Amino acid sequence: MACGHLRELELSAAVRRGDAVEIVGLDQDPDSIEVAMELARRLNCRVLAHTASIKAVIKRSIPLAEFDLVYAAGLFDYLDDKVAALLLARMLEAARPGGRVLIANFVPDIPDVGYMEACMDWYLRYRTERQLRDLLEQVPTELQGEARTLHDPDQNIAFLVVTRGQGPSTHRSRRGL
Ligand SMILES: C[S@@+](CC[C@H](N)C(=O)[O-])C[C@H]1O[C@@H](n2cnc3c(N)ncnc32)[C@H](O)[C@@H]1O
Repeated sequence: MACGHLRELELSAAVRRGDAVEIVGLDQDPDSIEVAMELARRLNCRVLAHTASIKAVIKRSIPLAEFDLVYAAGLFDYLDDKVAALLLARMLEAARPGGRVLIANFVPDIPDVGYMEACMDWYLRYRTERQLRDLLEQVPTELQGEARTLHDPDQNIAFLVVTRGQGPSTHRSRRGL
């Protein structure tokens, strides 16, 4: 979700091994999608890309289902709690039972916040690990398996990892992209 340039493809052990992985990237910015597709071509990796807003995911306009992993690294900091919880629920719907969902969020009071806001005019919605976990209160419980939070070594970013529960999947196919 909001894959940007999808740079993590270069770090993926599966991609490096040449495993037959299939990755679907979604971003509202067509230029970023083009960069991501160029990287995928260079790495000989199968990527389906979709230029769309997460609004389409929230409205269930894009069929997504049965993924091993659904993640957003660099999106939830832009979303208020209501939209964040809705998107988290849709991401869990898109994972297969037992699959995982990962979201990331900058935490409050990071050393760079003054520079980001004063010099870059970059205002984010900061969340603690606890606040990330609290989003699950607005997510149907049948979608939720085990949940845990963690943070990066420099303690700038919090992560929430949730295993998809056994609840029904809304969409049966990931095709249509
Ligand atoms: C900070 S970048 C993160 C990109 C990538 N995950 C990374 O780590 O480099 C944020 C991305 O979110 C995308 N984005 C922001 N709001 C969006 C929305 N409502 N729907 C889809 N993409 C969105 C932007 O186009 C941008 O590529």
